[in-house]
Amino acid sequence: MNDSDTAIVNGRNSSRRRVWITGGNGMVGRNLREHARAADWDIVTPSRRDLDLANRAAVSAFARAGGFDLVIHAAGQVGGIQANMADPVGFLVNNIDMGRNVIMAAFEAEIPALINLSSSCMYPRGRDHALRESDIMTGELEPTNEGYALAKIVSTRMCDYIVRTRPDLAYRTIIPCNLYGRHDKFDPAASHLVPAIIAKVSTAMQTGDKEVEIWGDGSARREFMYAADLADAIWRGANDPATLPQLMNVGIGDDHSILDYYEAVATALGWQGRFRFDLTRPVGMQRKLSDVGLQRDWGWVPPTSLHDGIAATIQFYQQQA
Ligand SMILES: NC(=O)c1ccc[n+]([C@@H]2O[C@H](COP(=O)([O-])OP(=O)(O)OC[C@H]3O[C@@H](n4cnc5c(N)ncnc54)[C@H](OP(=O)(O)O)[C@@H]3O)[C@@H](O)[C@H]2O)c1
Repeated sequence: MNDSDTAIVNGRNSSRRRVWITGGNGMVGRNLREHARAADWDIVTPSRRDLDLANRAAVSAFARAGGFDLVIHAAGQVGGIQANMADPVGFLVNNIDMGRNVIMAAFEAEIPALINLSSSCMYPRGRDHALRESDIMTGELEPTNEGYALAKIVSTRMCDYIVRTRPDLAYRTIIPCNLYGRHDKFDPAASHLVPAIIAKVSTAMQTGDKEVEIWGDGSARREFMYAADLADAIWRGANDPATLPQLMNVGIGDDHSILDYYEAVATALGWQGRFRFDLTRPVGMQRKLSDVGLQRDWGWVPPTSLHDGIAATIQFYQQQA
């Protein structure tokens, strides 16, 4: 993998198909680029500096000139609750603009296939069942990330409408569950749970702290998938996008308590301290789980166990330190 943040082109090779990956320097993009199946493709993934996806004219020209067989749209303004609440306008408008520019540029250039990455944030809140694709647009959104969710709904519907108009184009949307893994953000201010736990417990080990604090009582449940497994599903879909359902959750279909994640990290690191529960802190939803029936019918299950995924993520974290 070329690790630079500038555009990479894995050379033209007439035996390989050609894919444009947006957001190639993000967590999902980097996991796509380092997956074994990436070698089957000519990959073009311009950095933001080389192609600002907010620039409609530039994006259109790029799509027309590229000779692409496929687009994987993995760029976005992505962040946790605090980032969403601090910049609701940005999360709405920047994600709508990027989705609109990339998907419409691909459509107008007649690129035959596109895989659009959405997020489980676009599901209605407060459902007590595993979230099914048919739940989209059937209820009120989580207010703390409503702008982001609305933008995801717009790009998802854009792909649906394009396919209604042009059934020969395979424009599909994938809804990943929460991710963790290599190229994650470990900054304590970032709200991704698993890397935050890895950073917290590692710091406790370094400082000799015998206690690590957990917000809430640790019983809230979360579904997390190893990011390389999402890349595996995307490359499988890329191989024959028409086989993908129009809209499909990609997840584990199972979850763990927050305490389970802390314990898994503590065990992997060999930390033997205690957890302290701060019951005055907010914990968010008690549970949010994706229904993976369509994914199962499509014939894919995530290959990496929580144990192995956490070990690989810790290794990545330690290499960065
Ligand atoms: N991470 C998760 O847990 C998760 C879960 C479900 C769904 N997803 C979805 O997966 C996709 C990728 O997420 P991620 O975690 O990989 O996010 P990320 O690490 O924040 O990466 C986002 C990428 O988008 C690029 N980007 C943002 N604005 C741009 C612009 N105007 N022009 C060009 N590039 C721009 C960023 O470029 P810079 O590097 O220059 O900033 C970055 O490379 C998103 O659609 C997200 O909703 C992620």
